[in-house]
Amino acid sequence: ARHDGKMLRMIMFGKPGAGKGTLTARLVKKYDIVSMSTGDLLRQHIAEKTEVGLLAESIVASGGLLPDDIMLKVVTSKLDVLQNRHWILDGFPRTVGQGKLLDDHLSARGTPLSLVVNLDVPDSVILSRISDRWVHLPSGRVYNLSYNPPKVAGHDDETGEPLTKRPDDNPEIFARRLAQFYASTSPLLAHYSAQTAAATRVVTLAGSTSDEIWPQLEDAVRAHFSGVRERQEVKR
Ligand code: AP5
Repeated sequence: ARHDGKMLRMIMFGKPGAGKGTLTARLVKKYDIVSMSTGDLLRQHIAEKTEVGLLAESIVASGGLLPDDIMLKVVTSKLDVLQNRHWILDGFPRTVGQGKLLDDHLSARGTPLSLVVNLDVPDSVILSRISDRWVHLPSGRVYNLSYNPPKVAGHDDETGEPLTKRPDDNPEIFARRLAQFYASTSPLLAHYSAQTAAATRVVTLAGSTSDEIWPQLEDAVRAHFSGVRERQEVKR
């Protein structure tokens, strides 16, 4: 069934380093969609030393997960102001518990999740990506030395500010994040796939490069959400 006129309520789902942030940014750049990354939000909390940030710092650095109730508060306070926008969540929910909390939150507002995109990228591919990743912390912009390098080495394209390595992007911590994904996050996919009668569509996109995944992703959004406009069309 087409979701004509329905709001895009999308989860970008996948392993650490699968390209959730990169592909979300591409959609948001081209289409009239907003996004929220819980990883970026937590890194901002950590940089600003908020109450959540002080709790998150050691958990994120060690590749663990924050408690579900805290994550729900971090996310929903932001989501409620996006009621009238098409949106994508990157990095949330990340446990079956978070998924159920989000289901309840959204159904109370009459706008259930409409799309779960599962990025299926081999482990061997993402391990090599992580060592090449550099980030601009204030904006969350992500670069990769071989795939999308910054115009000036070591500096953000838009602000010129220095890029940094994430403290959790070393092989040992990355292995822990991947293990955490298999233990706690991947069961969420079964949770969504089991909701056959619900409005949530699950789409798996497999591939090792963006050239393979990007056109499939655009098709999935365009085919089912005719109300999502390109930014150029909106401006006209
Ligand atoms: P988070 O920031 O969400 O980390 P993650 O899930 O591990 O995901 P990444 O940001 O590593 O990867 P990505 O899939 O976005 O890939 P990217 O586009 O950057 O979370 C960090 C931590 O916060 C967690 O470990 C946890 O502690 C905590 N946390 C967050 N949310 C939580 C929650 N809900 N509950 C509890 N705790 C939570 O791409 C990776 C690299 O590959 C880049 O260098 C990129 O340039 C390159 N690349 C991307 N796509 C391609 C492509 N198609 N081809 C080639 N290269 C590519």
